[in-house]
Amino acid sequence: MIDVNRPSYARMYDYLIGGTDNYPSDRRACAELLTIAPAMQQLAQANRAFLVRAVRYLARHRRVRRFIDFGTGLPTRPNVHQVAQEVDPKASVVYIDNDPMVCAHGRMVLEENLLTTAVIEADIRHLDSIFTVPRVRRILAENQPVAALFVSVLHCLDDEDDPWQLVSDVAAHLPAGSYLVISHLASDDPTLRRDLTAFMSRNLGTWGRVRSTTEIARLFNGTDLLEHTSPVDVSAWCPDTDLCVRPASRDWIEYGGVARIR
Ligand SMILES: C[S@@+](CC[C@H](N)C(=O)[O-])C[C@H]1O[C@@H](n2cnc3c(N)ncnc32)[C@H](O)[C@@H]1O
Repeated sequence: MIDVNRPSYARMYDYLIGGTDNYPSDRRACAELLTIAPAMQQLAQANRAFLVRAVRYLARHRRVRRFIDFGTGLPTRPNVHQVAQEVDPKASVVYIDNDPMVCAHGRMVLEENLLTTAVIEADIRHLDSIFTVPRVRRILAENQPVAALFVSVLHCLDDEDDPWQLVSDVAAHLPAGSYLVISHLASDDPTLRRDLTAFMSRNLGTWGRVRSTTEIARLFNGTDLLEHTSPVDVSAWCPDTDLCVRPASRDWIEYGGVARIR
């Protein structure tokens, strides 16, 4: 059920990146968020720009034509399929999100061409229900490299949900030569981590955890990072222009990278 009187993470993020699919409850929560983490707007914008660069890079330089986007977020411009289809109009994307509003908007905007895009309402913690969807099974059965995107979503999961195991289980399901794209809210200051986690949990009900860069680096176990020797502040991941948005403060960053699964 969609309750617009309570903030949602997807709509708050939409507001921060300049979208219009948000409500007063989301904007109020963002206003409060910006008082404790003033760089959060630049962080969200830099994160989205990273997603676009990573998808373009994989399509252009690694010839990836299949993408599974875990935690899609509300439609924006450009969306993953638009970036990939600039390189190859036949590139296909499966979008997965557990927010019913994201999926309702997604079906209108992201499913432009049902041959190449699909939106699935599912919780990424329940992989069995995702890997049995015919569309996902078809992508995997084609036995070509797939890029699994976990962009700004794994911090929504508790430690008990074991995001490390989740990423490793997804990697194990993908055809040989597949890729991971990961970004995750990070801080190496335990007090800042605790404060931001508490704020998000208070406003969103259930939420995961802001993690340290060391914890996030472990998500890449069993992979070879591309272009950088370790995960990075994603605003610095292969910047394609001097105009890339850079967060003004390094108190919190979106930390991650792009990797080839071994
Ligand atoms: C911050 S948005 C990120 C959107 C996009 N990946 C990006 O980085 O631009 C996070 C999205 O993850 C979704 N999400 C959070 N927890 C999820 C879960 N357990 N299963 C599926 N989607 C989830 C939220 O609904 C939200 O749309």
